[in-house]
Formats: sequence, C-alpha cells, structure tokens
Amino acid sequence: MKRNNVNIAVLVSGGGTNLQALIDAQNSGIINSGRIKLVISNKSDAYALKRAENANIKTAVVSKKELGQVGMENKISELLTQNSIDIIVLAGFMCILTADFTKKYDKRIINVHPSLIPSFCGEGFYGLKVHEAALKKGVKVTGATVHFVNEIPDGGEIILQKAVTVPENSTPESLQKRVMRLAEWKILPRAVEIVSQKILKEEE
Ligand code: GAR
Repeated sequence: MKRNNVNIAVLVSGGGTNLQALIDAQNSGIINSGRIKLVISNKSDAYALKRAENANIKTAVVSKKELGQVGMENKISELLTQNSIDIIVLAGFMCILTADFTKKYDKRIINVHPSLIPSFCGEGFYGLKVHEAALKKGVKVTGATVHFVNEIPDGGEIILQKAVTVPENSTPESLQKRVMRLAEWKILPRAVEIVSQKILKEEE
C-alpha cells in the first residue's frame, strides 16, 4: 500500500536547534513527506532530548562511553529497525560513524555541517571549531552544507549548500549563530523533504 511519509530518526548530542528546525518544519508543512519518529542522543543531558519530549517524539540515549563505538552503533541499528526508520538525520551528532554502519544505510543518512564543504570539514572540524578555523583563515563567505554520509567524514554527496557572509568583528559564537539562522535551519529541513520525497517516489 502507498504510504504518505517516510520515518525519520534524528541523532543529536547537544542543544538541538537543528532538531527544533526540523520539528518546526514538520509543523509548518515544509517537511510533508517524512515524520520524525525517534530522537537518539549519545548524551543523556542533551537539551535536544527535552525539545523532542516537548514535541511528543520518542527518545533514546545510546552512550558511546558505556557501550563503545561498535556497541553504540549496534544499539542504534536495533532502534532504527524496531522503529522502521527510513532516514537518519545527524543534527549536531558529535560521533563519527564507522564504514560498517554507513554502508548499511547508503543514501539514507543525512548530515548538516556548518561550513561550505570542502572547506573546514573532516575529522576535528565540528561545532565552534569550524567557525574558529573560518575566522582564523579570514574567509569573507562561509555557510552550511547538507550532505549524505558515507565512510569519509563530511565526504558524502552534497545535497544542499547555502552561503553566508562573514561580518567584520565576528566571534566564533556570533558566526555560529548566524550560520545556523541563515543557512542550517533553512537547508536541513529542505534537504530532508527532498530525500523523503525521493524515497516515496521510488516506491510508486
Ligand atoms: C550545528 O552547528 C551543526 O551544524 C554542527 O553542530 C551544531 C549543533 O547545534 N555539527 C557539526 O559540526 C558536525 N560536524 P544544534 O545541536 O543546536 O543543532
């Protein structure tokens, strides 16, 4: 039987503003072909979990510290299967996933990264560090990228990008907020809708 939307899991580690953008986009209809079914955090104190609870979305905590890399990935896979998840969105998820994991979900894992890939990306470039590096280099334009996840950190196919100018006197914190507001929170929901629609179309 034809279904109207795919099931989405969002993986988080921190504040969850990108998760919030996805929840808002779902409520406003920008995301129409997918539904967030599950939020998984590797940190039990992530504020993102609170955002999920407020939106009545099921949550789980899977700790890499307790389970190790393979244990964490096995537990995530188990949860994804149990909840019939089609798309995995990494929204500020601060763990790198191994090739064994990413191979199982080819073109099904989406990540948002706070720079214009291939600048300031790969291992070691996450969160504020990305903006610190961009400011140190003195770039005048930065932005955000949404891409599929493969075995190379930040190396998968690009889905959407958006450029943002760097105002003079920016700090890493002010630039992070600007890139989130003007780029990440816009292109992540749009990319999720694009990928969800594509999966539904393939099922027709
Ligand atoms: C976001 O800026 C996201 O792009 C970045 O971490 C922040 C999470 O914020 N992700 C990475 O750097 C991944 N390499 P959030 O928890 O408020 O969405």
